[in-house]
Amino acid sequence: MANFELSETELPSPKDGELLVKSLFISVDPYMRSRMSDAKSYVPSFEVGKPMDGGVVAEVIESRHPDFAAGDAVLAHLQWQEIQTVNAQQVNKLDKSVPLSYYLGILGMPGLTAYFGMNEIGKPVADETVVVSGAGGAVGMVVCQIARIKGCRVVAISGSDDKNAYLKDVLKVDKVINYNTEKNMKAAIARSCPDGVDVYYDNVGGEISDAVFSHINKFARIILCGQISLYNNTEIPVGPRPQPLMVKKSALMQGFIVSNYSARFGEGIHQLAQWLGEGKLTSSETIVQGFETLPETFISLFHGKNTGKLLVNVSD
Ligand SMILES: NC(=O)c1ccc[n+]([C@@H]2O[C@H](COP(=O)([O-])OP(=O)(O)OC[C@H]3O[C@@H](n4cnc5c(N)ncnc54)[C@H](OP(=O)(O)O)[C@@H]3O)[C@@H](O)[C@H]2O)c1
Repeated sequence: MANFELSETELPSPKDGELLVKSLFISVDPYMRSRMSDAKSYVPSFEVGKPMDGGVVAEVIESRHPDFAAGDAVLAHLQWQEIQTVNAQQVNKLDKSVPLSYYLGILGMPGLTAYFGMNEIGKPVADETVVVSGAGGAVGMVVCQIARIKGCRVVAISGSDDKNAYLKDVLKVDKVINYNTEKNMKAAIARSCPDGVDVYYDNVGGEISDAVFSHINKFARIILCGQISLYNNTEIPVGPRPQPLMVKKSALMQGFIVSNYSARFGEGIHQLAQWLGEGKLTSSETIVQGFETLPETFISLFHGKNTGKLLVNVSD
């Protein structure tokens, strides 16, 4: 917390082609941790002394662009500010018939990450066993539900009994594992996956993933989405080297960034919205109130405080 500062600036005025927008929901996401270092990555590092930035749903207060009017809701990559100006070409106007928070969760970046990771790399087939780590979070919950829609047997791993109860009772996954209370993860995977693992959607990495790897089937697909268990490490620990097993099992392990599929986001949102409308997908969110809570809310991602998508409502 000592690394964050709350400051006030002059209220900006929009120029031609710009909008003055007021933030409503600000997204906090694990990838932001990787931006707090000088290491080269697929997104630039945050700059010390400058505001954080990320996905924001905002309301237009004043428009200097013909396609937007005061009262419109927009999605944009914005700074962590209550009010700011933005180039109108850098925002997407939102359909207000859907809860606006969904555009940062199930119908936004995390939902699309689940959709493209599963469809393009996981390629789940009915009756296969799909294991999901980080299953109680924004991406993981959508992955579990897509796997169910595809007719798979779903084994969900999270760090809390409450999340696991939700995954089992509401999202109807087949088996749950709490990695915080489970003493032997390899044995737990063996018990929960008697037919082995066909698809592993990896959100966390580290020892949890080592345990899953040891039970993969022939032609297994391992989707490397995130490695949150390692984001606070200054050095990456050396674990089991899986390559010999991957050869033996003719398995595929592929990393991806959701923006690889940006040209197809429309297709993804359309499918996710259709499943939502049909009641096949459920949205789960943890919404924290107040702009000043942003730093602690962001940090809480690394302590598993959220069930589903974690957001800050800054509208008051
Ligand atoms: N490739 C991409 O384009 C892309 C896009 C979006 C997200 N991601 C990645 O996907 C993963 C999930 O992101 P999300 O937005 O859905 O976050 P999230 O799962 O909603 O929130 C993070 C969760 O990670 C779990 N976690 C935290 N520290 C952990 C640890 N040391 N070991 C195991 N689990 C831990 C916590 O749940 P527990 O209670 O279960 O510990 C926490 O609630 C992240 O790794 C993220 O970087 C990748």
